Amino acid sequence: MSTTVEECILEDASGLCLLSRAMTEADIDEVYAIEHRAHTHPWKRSIFETRVRGKDFCRVIVQKNQVVAYAIASYGGGDAELLNIVVDPQHQRRGIAGLLLKHIISLVAGHADMMFLEVRVSNQKAIDLYSCEGFFETGHRKSYYPTNNGREDALLMACQLQA
Ligand SMILES: CC(C)(COP(=O)(O)OP(=O)(O)OC[C@H]1O[C@@H](n2cnc3c(N)ncnc32)[C@H](O)[C@@H]1OP(=O)(O)O)[C@@H](O)C(=O)NCCC(=O)NCCS
Repeated sequence: MSTTVEECILEDASGLCLLSRAMTEADIDEVYAIEHRAHTHPWKRSIFETRVRGKDFCRVIVQKNQVVAYAIASYGGGDAELLNIVVDPQHQRRGIAGLLLKHIISLVAGHADMMFLEVRVSNQKAIDLYSCEGFFETGHRKSYYPTNNGREDALLMACQLQA
């Protein structure tokens, strides 16, 4: 991994090079399309627009000029929050989420001591990913997320960051 924050080359499990860079407004069309492919209850476009214009860490992973994954983390008051992490379904199971999560943790680490997140209790893939990167369970939020036929709980997780 290179040390520059603006652009950084990452290698996936098969040795293929991927570029990590800051998300810009020009990426939002692609990001929003992936968001709809990957999530049952996608974010509104305006949320991406607000986040990209703010001070959050908004990163995209690019392969051959195409966005294949993204993550958004906010920080303030010594804490950080992972707000979203998505890999385009066509590019899942290549280890990209693990790489991206490690990368965004390394960027946020100088700005916060702990990172927090919420995840659907049914999203075992994401829970496994977070556990592998050192997140531990801290609690539940009852009926936090909408589902197609009701509500489901959020699992709260946290991870100690090392600057
Ligand atoms: C959760 C999510 C980000 C994981 O992305 P991913 O890039 O597929 O994750 P990884 O490849 O790092 O790991 C996923 C699995 O692929 C496996 N894998 C990793 N590299 C692999 C490779 N080269 N070959 C085969 N499998 C591989 C991992 O071991 C893991 O396996 P497991 O599910 O059996 O434990 C993705 O499924 C996603 O975008 N989901 C929708 C959005 C979402 O739920 N986001 C999280 C909450 S906001």
